[in-house]
Amino acid sequence: MTRVFSGVKPTGHLTLGNYLGAVRRWADVDQRHSDALFCVVDLHALTVDHDPARVRRLTRQAATLLLAAGLDPELCTVFVQSHVDEHTRLSYVMECVANDGEMRRMIQYKEKAARERERGGSVRLSLLTYPVLMAADILAYGTDEVPVGDDQAQHVELARDLAVRFNQRYGHTFVVPRATRPGVAARVMNLQEPASKMGKSDDSGPGIVYLLDEPDAVRKKVMRAVTDSAAGVVYDREERPGVANLLEILAACEGGDPEDLSGVYESYGALKKDTTEAVVELLRPLQARHKALCADPAYVEGVLRDGAEKARGMAKPMVDTAYRAIGLLPA
Ligand code: TYM
Repeated sequence: MTRVFSGVKPTGHLTLGNYLGAVRRWADVDQRHSDALFCVVDLHALTVDHDPARVRRLTRQAATLLLAAGLDPELCTVFVQSHVDEHTRLSYVMECVANDGEMRRMIQYKEKAARERERGGSVRLSLLTYPVLMAADILAYGTDEVPVGDDQAQHVELARDLAVRFNQRYGHTFVVPRATRPGVAARVMNLQEPASKMGKSDDSGPGIVYLLDEPDAVRKKVMRAVTDSAAGVVYDREERPGVANLLEILAACEGGDPEDLSGVYESYGALKKDTTEAVVELLRPLQARHKALCADPAYVEGVLRDGAEKARGMAKPMVDTAYRAIGLLPA
């Protein structure tokens, strides 16, 4: 059995980037031959300025969307991070293994801290230590594989480093995990700013396709996507990022190859039209299931309650072992 773990942070409405880069692949994990856990990592949403009611709402919405995306609670474990204390228990221990220098080198920390300072705000300490909590999320479950988009690769690399360091210092305890990334759409870009990632916490609404966008909204956003003034539809991520992004989205939706697809189109208009249709069709069944699940909130709550209990049972022995290995007296 391969142990799989991944998570999504409830800092905004889930986007097409989250879906193509990660969530869709979670539903594709062979849930019969893997032991998979998927988590709404709500503690991570507290690392930046937040509204408590919004975090609660988005946590529930993200969990509902994971089920709508096809995660089957009979075959995998779906839960909310803060319902399982083992994550924070292990996080502190891993803070005693990590160095402050490696935290400050994390790209997401540098970018988010710089943005926060530009706005004149202060940077929460938890933003700096966030990758350690993420490492704890992964390591607590003896995870082999972590399906994520490109932007999380550095954090998974840190989890690997910390696991190896802990094992060397205190005896073999953790499985060393590895990130798995999709072949295409590992980094879906903002449709209005194709040099930036499509991020759910960003302000640029017109460049972000949300999973719950109505077909009309998807159409407007894709048809207005920024391309360039060069001739021909060519797949070149460096020189033609806007067009490359559309080709990747289309390829990810239809299962093709972006380079091959570029030969099919002569105009940006036709490419945008087909991309719109592909995205609308991709989201249609997910939105229908989401609507049905919203009508039954007690079901979703039950799934999360059972999921937390199962996850707790899986994580506790590992975290207890780590506590003993690092020198803490058993209670
Ligand atoms: P988050 O919530 O930012 O994103 C959830 C997943 O979606 C992927 N993703 C993307 N993939 C392609 N293109 C995009 N534009 C795009 N935007 C997001 C992310 O790579 C991620 O896989 N720190 C994590 C959450 C986390 C986690 C974990 C993940 C906490 N603990 C343990 C794995 C294992 C995060 O902020 O993801």
